[in-house]
Amino acid sequence: PEAKACDFVLFGTKGDLARRKLLPSLYQLDKAGLLNEDTKVIGVAKDAFTHEEFNELVVKALRGFVKEELCEETLARFLTRCHYIGTNFTESEGYQAFHELLEPHKRVMVSYFATPPAIFGDICRCLHEQNLIQPDSRVVLEKPIGSDLASSKVINDQVAAFYNEDQVYRIDHYLGKETVQNLIALRFANSLFASKWDNRTIDHVQITVAEEVGIEGRWGYFDKAGQMRDMIQNHLLQVLTLVAMDPPVNLDADSIRDEKVKVLKSLRPINLDNIYENTVRGQYSSGFLKGSPVPGYLEEEGANTQSNAETFVALRVDIDNWRWAGVPFYLRSGKRMPTKSSEIVVYFKNPPHNLYRSNYRNLPPNKLTIRLQPHEGVEIQMMNKVPGLEQKQRLQTTKLDLSFTDTFKNERIADAYERLLLEAMLGNQALFVRRDEVEQAWTWVDGIIQSWEESNEKPKPYPAGSWGPVASVALIAKDGRSWDE
Ligand code: BG6
Repeated sequence: PEAKACDFVLFGTKGDLARRKLLPSLYQLDKAGLLNEDTKVIGVAKDAFTHEEFNELVVKALRGFVKEELCEETLARFLTRCHYIGTNFTESEGYQAFHELLEPHKRVMVSYFATPPAIFGDICRCLHEQNLIQPDSRVVLEKPIGSDLASSKVINDQVAAFYNEDQVYRIDHYLGKETVQNLIALRFANSLFASKWDNRTIDHVQITVAEEVGIEGRWGYFDKAGQMRDMIQNHLLQVLTLVAMDPPVNLDADSIRDEKVKVLKSLRPINLDNIYENTVRGQYSSGFLKGSPVPGYLEEEGANTQSNAETFVALRVDIDNWRWAGVPFYLRSGKRMPTKSSEIVVYFKNPPHNLYRSNYRNLPPNKLTIRLQPHEGVEIQMMNKVPGLEQKQRLQTTKLDLSFTDTFKNERIADAYERLLLEAMLGNQALFVRRDEVEQAWTWVDGIIQSWEESNEKPKPYPAGSWGPVASVALIAKDGRSWDE
């Protein structure tokens, strides 16, 4: 569906996110004919750019970050939508310029705050002082929403003073990934898994988000956050909720989010009593990535050599509810892993009785692998008989493999931000995180971070280019299991 006409206002338009992701995604939506013909894109930053200078910035961003060759016709159309306002974000006089551009009766104002969260409240206040917030205005918030429960409440309160919850769109870009959305389809558009999705059939679940990148000049931000706040609190917990939630009554935003919150509320707290059994923190030291030497975290540009920030986390998570009692979820995420790969692996229980025991003491389990990125797809590992006339049947694990790129050859896999920007313009909050979800996730994560602090638990070193500290292997091995290869 085509979105309503919007004034899409991009605060922080010069920033990395805007150039890498947001402007290219808006261009792709335009190319796909999904932007309303009246939609405007209004960049906001501090600099006093002319219209031409801003357009140059846009063209540079698109040439740099759109993966295919630009369509000149789309580019020309896109540039006619672009406008620029230079203002100090925290002083409302500068916001007067909006009155000349916005047409609230014709277009819905969708503001995207790609700025540090510390000034979200100021931007809201300035918009309010200039009378720019209408009942149908929307605001899209980039992460991180705080660094713990208390600070996230402050930010959420500041925004809530000017926008109702149904106007607030909190981004977790993992929710916009094609494969993450497919997870909902896989679970709820197929009967195959519906009756198998619980502790009677599933042994355990693994969620891995491995990144090849290190800190890439973001030390200042990352060192305060660490991998727990940067990746687990948001992306991995969001994926976990979609794997674990009960069927929603329908696909409405609140129906889905109600179910996700229930999962977050059921997470067994990790505290000083069980921190060692359930968590591993790591920090990469120098090593090799694809054969090339890379520096350790403490040797990165701008590093504080005493830092205790973790760049790797492995967790055993228990969900204390009817469906998942006794089924651990193992989560791990790290920077400078050997390869970029994100996947969910659902391990099913062994058959109740092994008829092949004379040949096979243990039958390998059935496994459902959902590859989030790269090589997006779904795979099922099953046992099959090897053809042949031998008396003793030979079995072999084989894969039913559905690769998205092979199966949907003519479809482009859209970037997560394209989907999310479109949904925000359409006014559908289903792929955005509700306030209670963020706060519930922080409540659980705070317990872990506090326990690490109180126990003085330092991150364990692991060489860049490896799968994390050995303790991560031990975390899962003590339960008689191993990480998926
Ligand atoms: C961001 C984190 O939210 O997600 C980054 O701040 C991380 O540190 C990135 O690299 C990973 O996203 P993706 O889509 O590349 O898996």
